[in-house]
Amino acid sequence: MTPAVPEGFLDAVGPVVAGWAWLPSDPGRRLRVEILFGGSSMREAMRVETRIEAPADRHRPDLEAAGKGDGRCGFVVPVPDALAGREHAVDVRLPDFPEARLRGAPRLAIAALGLVTLRALRPTDADLARLRAFLADMARLNGGIPATAVPEAADVRAWVAGGLPGELAGDDRCWLVAERGDRIVGHCRIGPDWPAPPGSGALALGIELHPDVRGFGLGRSLMLAAHRWAAGRCARLELAVLPHNAGALALYRALGYADLGPVALPETGEIHRRMALGLPARGRPEGTGVVTLVV
Ligand SMILES: CC(C)(COP(=O)(O)OP(=O)(O)OC[C@H]1O[C@@H](n2cnc3c(N)ncnc32)[C@H](O)[C@@H]1OP(=O)(O)O)[C@@H](O)C(=O)NCCC(=O)NCCS
Repeated sequence: MTPAVPEGFLDAVGPVVAGWAWLPSDPGRRLRVEILFGGSSMREAMRVETRIEAPADRHRPDLEAAGKGDGRCGFVVPVPDALAGREHAVDVRLPDFPEARLRGAPRLAIAALGLVTLRALRPTDADLARLRAFLADMARLNGGIPATAVPEAADVRAWVAGGLPGELAGDDRCWLVAERGDRIVGHCRIGPDWPAPPGSGALALGIELHPDVRGFGLGRSLMLAAHRWAAGRCARLELAVLPHNAGALALYRALGYADLGPVALPETGEIHRRMALGLPARGRPEGTGVVTLVV
């Protein structure tokens, strides 16, 4: 007999906690979810202040379209008044499946982002450990396995140094990070990677923020910091984006990126949109100065 393994996702934290949970082996069964509201940081997440139990039985057309039974497996739970407007951790459990963990959880509900520093990654043990902790978190949230998804510290260090360990960082690459408190919450990597054709004068850019800090304007600020670094170092920035990633597409279009048409990811053949931004020539390129933002 195949074991009953529930599926689900924590989609949003904020004024309400929203997500879904479903049992593929028993599609008609409505699962119960337990929302745990914890302390004001991830470290304190297990210090549970409030629990709310609710059925995952709300109809969601997107879940029905995605083949999650009849789509009646969503949940929406309002945040308790005592926590509204206060930073707090949110986790989700399935009381009938104590071993199961919902993808996308746990999360931090952030009311105001406050101080965030944008700077280049330092190839020190401490900074690499913090970057790898962020990448492991992202892998877990996306349902991946950190042990295989996170590069070794030595590989990150070698990439920053232009593939030549021990040398100074190359002028064709920069790994920017966004730091909130002692936590890296986002990164943007510029370098001679796909989809920029080798020898074309273009560099590639990739950006990802932790879901906790999306929608505050940080993505735009990090992109602008990347553009400042790249101006004078390359003629053009290129990136690849999945066609259904509406948020990222809107951001790139708003920043002036032109759509160059479809391009297939070499490893899987998955079709992306290739986009490019021409950069002004600059006599002396800027360094990777620290920018502190209050968002
Ligand atoms: C894409 C991403 C970097 C954007 O960063 P962000 O901080 O959330 O975006 P911002 O708050 O700076 O928004 C800037 C602009 O992007 C667009 N945008 C961002 N999120 C959006 C969303 N969910 N829906 C529609 N537009 C969105 C808007 O044009 C917005 O401008 P506005 O504030 O004037 O409306 C971030 O959401 C992320 O990391 N997403 C997951 C990873 C990813 O998709 N990376 C890109 C792979 S190609």
